[in-house]
Amino acid sequence: MNRGIFISFEGIDGAGKSSHVQAVADAFAQAQRQVVLTREPGGTPLAEKLRDMVLHDSMDPLSEVLLMFAARRDHLQQVIEPALARGDVVVCDRFTDATFAYQGAGRGFDLKVLSQLEQWVQALPSGVLRQPDLTLWFALDPAIAAERLSKARVPDRFEAQPAAFFAQVHQGYTDRLQADPQRFARIDASAVLDAVRSQVMHVLQERL
Ligand code: TYD
Repeated sequence: MNRGIFISFEGIDGAGKSSHVQAVADAFAQAQRQVVLTREPGGTPLAEKLRDMVLHDSMDPLSEVLLMFAARRDHLQQVIEPALARGDVVVCDRFTDATFAYQGAGRGFDLKVLSQLEQWVQALPSGVLRQPDLTLWFALDPAIAAERLSKARVPDRFEAQPAAFFAQVHQGYTDRLQADPQRFARIDASAVLDAVRSQVMHVLQERL
């Protein structure tokens, strides 16, 4: 049986990661792998309800963090762990690095509390912490990302944040990469779509 593989996609809003999530899922499906394409916050009926609240209702930073982790817990239990146990490939648009980058670095929430919640929510029965096998970080200058976003849809609570917030989120991702460089692959998201796609496929071949 194939070993399950867990891949997460990260980056600030406007970095363009979402257009590559489907391509990665398709590449694994073509290689005859069962793929579960999912996202955070979300991925289960309960977590999608929490997503709707956290993206649109105003709340204090602690409530925001608790809802993100509640959604993650349900997602792990209902979708991610069963898929990995079956030997599937889980392709997930955002995971816990987003909480450290957005709620931690962006909102200034206590990183020690986030680490504690990460332990509670992601610890396996063996005590090992569930993390993605590979995290693709779409790194882009926050000013360019803001320009891309301004051409898009009606912003949610995060997309509506000022440029300084995204500079902090970007720094948050940088810190997460430095803390766990083996898990991360940094993708230069400033390139044109095809060039970004080649970087992504190259990383998959090299790492997996
Ligand atoms: P996003 O992937 O940008 O969805 P879409 O492309 O449909 O807008 O994710 C939604 C937002 O949620 C994004 O602005 C980042 C935010 N977010 C957090 O703040 N913390 C988290 O832990 C996660 C998973 C997402």
